[in-house]
Amino acid sequence: MGPRDHFATRLGFILAAAGSAVGLGNIWKFPFMAGQNGGGAFLIIYLAFVLTIGFSVMLAEFTIGRAGQRNPVGAFRALKGGAWPAVGGLGVVAGFVILSFYSVVGGWTLAYAIKAATGALASNDPETLGAAFGAFISEPEGVIGFHTLFMVLTGGIIAGGVRGGIERASRILMPVLVVLVIVLAGRAVTLEGAAKGIDFFLTPDFSKVTWGTVNAALGQAFFSLSLGMGAMLTYASYLDKQVNLPKTAAQVTILDTTFAVIAGFMVLPAVFAFGFDPAAGPGLTFITLPAVFAQMPAGQVFAFLFFALLAIAALTSAVSIMEPVVAYLIDERRMPRRWAALLSGVMIWALGVPSALSLGPWKDMTIGGKGFLDAMDYLASNIMLPTGGVLIALFVGWSISARAQEEAQSDGSHPFPLIRVWIFICRFVAPAAVAWVLISGL
Ligand code: PFF
Repeated sequence: MGPRDHFATRLGFILAAAGSAVGLGNIWKFPFMAGQNGGGAFLIIYLAFVLTIGFSVMLAEFTIGRAGQRNPVGAFRALKGGAWPAVGGLGVVAGFVILSFYSVVGGWTLAYAIKAATGALASNDPETLGAAFGAFISEPEGVIGFHTLFMVLTGGIIAGGVRGGIERASRILMPVLVVLVIVLAGRAVTLEGAAKGIDFFLTPDFSKVTWGTVNAALGQAFFSLSLGMGAMLTYASYLDKQVNLPKTAAQVTILDTTFAVIAGFMVLPAVFAFGFDPAAGPGLTFITLPAVFAQMPAGQVFAFLFFALLAIAALTSAVSIMEPVVAYLIDERRMPRRWAALLSGVMIWALGVPSALSLGPWKDMTIGGKGFLDAMDYLASNIMLPTGGVLIALFVGWSISARAQEEAQSDGSHPFPLIRVWIFICRFVAPAAVAWVLISGL
């Protein structure tokens, strides 16, 4: 094996990690999850999980990845062996599951970028916009076609390798998206009737909190920060020693969370201003935002830019979901990168087809009362990622604790004042919290 491809700069790594974290999870999923789970209470529980467990597991993944210099399976084997590589294996499987439905929604954003450009979304009537979304997702050619296009783009970037593809795309496009989301949130909060939505988002009503709310917030924290499946671990395996890991983990966590909160301000006030249903589910962002664009000068331009950039943010995340799978095939199965990208891309695409059809023609096919896409999302986000995350935390906290503390502090060149708190969270807090949430679900 030749020397591993590495990120050119620390900035390149931050942008790639942030590009992984910021995606559909922030802009599509977070607002509708908050809408379904009572708004303010969900926000607070989510923030609590992000700041404690989320940050800690991210640092744990960075540490394992950089110390192991391999894909998730190989990194666990290199550092300890035994049954631990299976944790990496669980992550590779989770990557399959997540990307299969992620690519479907990524396809929706591509389709909506085109619709926006052609003026097909110009309306602020909830019924018209809801019906347009309904018509779009019930038509198999469209949803499968765009799912296919999204997978081809993801696989293409992956085939180009870390530096060529991932780093360049993130560096240019992320900052533009930040500006756009802030502008849109600014418009949404000044709509007439927005106050009710702001109140819904910021005032917690704990009487509505159920076990489901807590599980949803935990799953969303892992999903949004790209944790529990080895994506951040894999990116960190392309790092050199100099990078300050705790600082980088903190920056990525804060950036991702800020993005989600701003997306909440972009969607929820508009939901109330226009009389949409906050619990409408996966269609919420796609139905609400066109109504906001319709209230803006040059709305069509904003609409196109927004959905195009969202598609790109989704792509940089999709790439990070696929990279562990491909890195595994390259490192462990000795496959050339291009073949690995093709093989895994085709399999993930196939698993995505039922998700693509699940809001339309296959509406009636349910698993545990959920449509296929929702069921895949639930399985991955609410079960597989938290489980993977806890095993990662336990590994760092107990199994390689001394080595992990050295690695996390770059052998002393970046001392981390909270190192003991971090280890304590990895040892006790994260496992207890996740076990409590998962077990009370059963
Ligand atoms: N964090 C991404 C998002 O918020 O859209 C999704 C994601 C990426 C989940 C990578 C998991 C992952 F490993």
